[in-house]
This record gives sequence, C-alpha cells and structure tokens, in this order.
Amino acid sequence: MKPPPDTAFVKTAGLKKVFKDFWLRPKVVALEGLDLEILPGEVHGLLGSNGAGKSTTIKLILGLLFPTSGEVTVFGKPPGDVETKNRIGYLPEESYLYGFLDAEEILDYYGRLFNLPGPTRRSRIAELLDMVGLQGMRNRPLAEYSKGMQRRIGIAQALINNPDLLILDEPTTGLDPIGAREVKDLILRLREEGKSVLLSSHRLADVEDVCDRITVLYGGCKQAEGTIDELLSSPESTVIETDRLDADTLAGIEALLKKAGGLSIRKTESPRQSLENFFLGLVEKAGREGAETSGATGGAGVARFLTRERPAEEKDPPAEEAAD
Ligand SMILES: Nc1ncnc2c1ncn2[C@@H]1O[C@H](COP(=O)(O)OP(=O)(O)OP(=O)(O)O)[C@@H](O)[C@H]1O
Ligand SMILES: [Mg+2]
Repeated sequence: MKPPPDTAFVKTAGLKKVFKDFWLRPKVVALEGLDLEILPGEVHGLLGSNGAGKSTTIKLILGLLFPTSGEVTVFGKPPGDVETKNRIGYLPEESYLYGFLDAEEILDYYGRLFNLPGPTRRSRIAELLDMVGLQGMRNRPLAEYSKGMQRRIGIAQALINNPDLLILDEPTTGLDPIGAREVKDLILRLREEGKSVLLSSHRLADVEDVCDRITVLYGGCKQAEGTIDELLSSPESTVIETDRLDADTLAGIEALLKKAGGLSIRKTESPRQSLENFFLGLVEKAGREGAETSGATGGAGVARFLTRERPAEEKDPPAEEAAD
C-alpha cells in the first residue's frame, strides 16, 4: 500500500548495529538506538566525527547492512524492496567505478541497471555530464580522472534514475571550493524540485549551508537533532548590521543602551567576506579573462530531466523498452 504523502521517506526506530568479530563476540557498537526521520522535500544532514556511525546509518537505510535490532522503513517498506531502490540515488563514501570505462559508458551502465530505455539514457547522460562539468572528459577512462572529477561522476551516477531520495555520503570530499559550492547549489535545486536528500559530512560549513535539519552522531548515539536555527541561534543576544558608524554615533548608541537597562556594546566589527566567496570571485575572474585550465569546468545548473518540467516521454519509462 502506498504511504500517505506526509509520511516520512525514511524512518528508523531504535536502530542498532553491532559489528562482530570472527568469533561472533560483540566487537564495535557502531550505532545505538537511533530514531531518525527524513521527511519529503527536506535536506537532512548526518553530522559526526570519524567513526561516529554516519556511513553505517546510510548502509542500514540502503539495506546494504542488516540491523542488529531496531527497524528501518524507506518509503514505508523494508530497505531491500526493489520498488524502493528505484526511487533512491546513492553516492558511496568511496567511488568504486570501473577505471577502464569512460564517463558515458559508466552512466550508461547504471542507466541499464535501472532499465531506462536507450534514448532516455542518452539524453540523461548528456544532461548529467553538462551538469557536473565533465562534457569535455566524457571519452576519457575514469582511471585518468582526478579525485574531484571522480566525485562529480559519482554524483551524476547517483542521479541517473531521477531519484526521489538522494543519499550522499561525504559528497564534497575531494572537491575544490567551486565543485563543493556547485554540489551544495545542486542539493538546494533538487530540494526545490521536491526531492529529499540525506547527506553525511564532517565539513560543518556544508551541513550549515544546505541542511534543513541535522542529526549529530557521536559514538553511534544521537547527540542532537533539529533545524540549524533551533540548534545554533542564541536568543540571549541581538546583532544589528548597518553602514559603518563613527565613534560619536557609537557613543550615542552606548548611552541609549545604558539608559534602556544598563546594557553596553560587547563587540563592534566590520563584517568580512568568507574565504569561500573571495576564492570563488578570483576563479570566476580568471575564467572570464580566458585563463586556460585542463581541469573540470563549472557545471551547468541542474539537469532538465531532474526538474518538474521534464519532457512527458521521459516520465516512468516502461521496463520492457529498456533494451536498446
Ligand atoms: N564492516 C565493519 N566491521 C567492523 N567495524 C566496522 C565496520 N564498518 C564500520 N565499523 C565501525 O563502526 C564504527 C562506525 O563506522 P562508520 O563507517 O559508520 O563511521 P562514519 O561516521 O561514517 O566515519 P567517517 O567519517 O570516518 O566516514 C567505527 O568504529 C567503525 O570502525
Ligand atoms: Mg563514513
């Protein structure tokens, strides 16, 4: 039975995973009693240090590992369900791509696994390669790709089936700041298209930039859960931003605060731009001025088939047409 539309895409209850050693003695408690919900149209971040249990959680959701106890449902069904798998895209922590294939061949291979008809595969592959900025590399074997290029092709592979739920394990690892920014923008665009994203990361800025809600893991246990605002805002102070103030005006404000209840200004500073924005500005300028690069180029927004305006003939291709 189809779950009602407001049902969580992923729901775990008391999820526990213990890895045993060869003699089946308890070895590592990788996850302990995790309750997690991923709602339709949300970007959910799994945040935790190395070994916190992020990848284990993801593998349990995908049905690649079995829980020691507790429950997981994905789209209201057990994770191994074939229909469920059709609606999920997955970027593993490490890409295991066949080095002798080129970008088009690997994407075609994954397209065939999802039974996509030939013309659909070809148009999606071209759109995805454009999207991740690898059109120029499409006929080079993957063994020659840089780490960041491999990550980009991994992201394209995770999207070939136009999934409703995208699971990304450390998506920005190995990407340069532009690539990382593009992946973050892509995640936000996919959310606008109504898709859900679960992303694990230990890069705090990534999580802060794109996630609606986050779950923080430590030692396999949930330490905190909530929206970024709920977890990070400090209601006990106020920040006001305005044009640069001279010393007299500041003194006037200080006097006003004192009168208003014995308050004082704790800190004044001129905001500075982030290193990310500064770097992106430099690279954009070099690109505009025609500087040469043999690397990946900037991606082109989001592939059209991933949007709501995708052509009617691409919707729900019947499996029997898949043979090319
Ligand atoms: N196949 C396995 N056999 C035994 N122990 C494992 C296995 N996979 C993971 N673990 C252990 O489970 C714990 C959680 O690992 P997990 O890979 O989920 O961490 P993570 O949060 O993804 O870390 P990272 O940021 O380094 O990727 C670790 O202590 C790890 O050693
Ligand atoms: Mg991991």
